[in-house]
Amino acid sequence: MGIGVSSVPMARAVANTGNLGVVSGTAIDSVLARRLQDGDLTGEIRWALTHFPDQNTVNEVLERFFIEGGKKSEASYLDVPKLSLSPTPFANEMLIIANFVEITLAKRDCHGVIGVNFLEKIQLATPASVFGAMLAGVDYILMGAGIPADIPGLINELMVGNTVHFKIKVEGADTPHLLTFDPSIIHNVNYENLVRPKFLAIVSSHILANYLARDPETRPDGFVIEGPTAGGHNAPPRSKEHIGLDGQVTFTEKDLADFEKVKAVGLPFWLAGGYGTPEKVAEALEIGAAGVQVGSLFALSNESGIIDELREEVLQQVADDALEVRTEPKTSSTGFPFKVVEINGTASDPDVYQSRDRKCDLGYLRSPFLRPDGGIGYRCSAEPVKTFEFKGGTAEEAHDVKCLCNALMANIGLGQTRWGTYHEPPLLTLGSDLAGAKEMSDQYGGAWSAADVINYLTSKI
Ligand SMILES: Cc1cc2nc3c(=O)[nH]c(=O)nc-3n(C[C@H](O)[C@H](O)[C@H](O)COP(=O)(O)O)c2cc1C
Repeated sequence: MGIGVSSVPMARAVANTGNLGVVSGTAIDSVLARRLQDGDLTGEIRWALTHFPDQNTVNEVLERFFIEGGKKSEASYLDVPKLSLSPTPFANEMLIIANFVEITLAKRDCHGVIGVNFLEKIQLATPASVFGAMLAGVDYILMGAGIPADIPGLINELMVGNTVHFKIKVEGADTPHLLTFDPSIIHNVNYENLVRPKFLAIVSSHILANYLARDPETRPDGFVIEGPTAGGHNAPPRSKEHIGLDGQVTFTEKDLADFEKVKAVGLPFWLAGGYGTPEKVAEALEIGAAGVQVGSLFALSNESGIIDELREEVLQQVADDALEVRTEPKTSSTGFPFKVVEINGTASDPDVYQSRDRKCDLGYLRSPFLRPDGGIGYRCSAEPVKTFEFKGGTAEEAHDVKCLCNALMANIGLGQTRWGTYHEPPLLTLGSDLAGAKEMSDQYGGAWSAADVINYLTSKI
């Protein structure tokens, strides 16, 4: 769960129960840069960096971002370079090192398996991020929010240190452009020691599962089949009439995978989205799933990356049966529906949203597009409307879109501070099926650990 919600302590705690613990690789270069600017007070990042093969790169990163004792609270964070089709070596090094650090830390004092999650939509970060994760010996790579057809091939090439030419969708272009990534920018890598991670594609339909499995070039090692109640982004709905009277995205039977057809594909699969109760876990196993992927219960656990103040507010609302989670059609600039928790003081609050000056300084969700002069531009419908229009977007597209990059960094206590006083507001996401959260709230007195979630979920199998 990104950004930084599936944190190191959570992934490690889950892995140590014998299950798969997953860290988020989304925007992890910014997470690392900001943690270093906050002084890395526990020293754990610098500990992980001592294990990175190329110490020249480590020194470059520390020189750029590490502040002994932490930056002044009113100072703004210095940002990492934005993603692009022609990144500088340093931009790639940040992605590699940040993924390496996160996975190295999750694997510290851990006797289980660790995975990393990436979003297909953030294609420009993919090759360097996957490579960094592989250098740390990640066991599983999981990718959702798109069609991750090129990942098995990418892993194969990186295993032997080949330069890769990764396909990037460019809006307005007839054919994909290629992002060239040369792993030899990192020195002293012993490729013989790399262990191939397994790859799980997160999809919502049996049709997509079947499509990916048909060709050995695109075939993953398994699937997470994610339904429309899942937290974060959801797959776009299939029916044309999909906005309800309350403005939310509505899903129909057509949006649900046929599990018999998923089973017929012949690869292991895990079910996600509303599988956060012992009964639903038992049901998933009965259907033939290898297990479940659970988000919301862990996002609310003590090991979550979400700042305590927000998490406690949500837990209280769960306890009071007062929590509202909406499936918003416009919030995410990806165009995918996005689940939003309604909390005053966050960007779900219209006053907070209106009072924020639009700014696109992190840019993970920018899409490359073909400019009229034949060059490549980058745009995001959450950026200032005039800028977006100048780049060929429309005010209608930009309407109601929120800056997930800045908000999700604020959720984990790494939000940007501007002009000494302005703090980027958070925006929380959770799944809309909170039956398990309510039951755990009653059973565990309103707060729980990641290990409690595992005990609860496995109590009926
Ligand atoms: C706070 C939060 C953040 C999430 N972020 C991501 C993400 O970055 N990538 C992803 O593939 N899924 C993400 N998800 C979806 C979860 O991985 C999981 O599939 C989903 O939440 C399962 O449904 P549940 O919440 O009903 O358990 C997120 C979910 C939550 C609650």
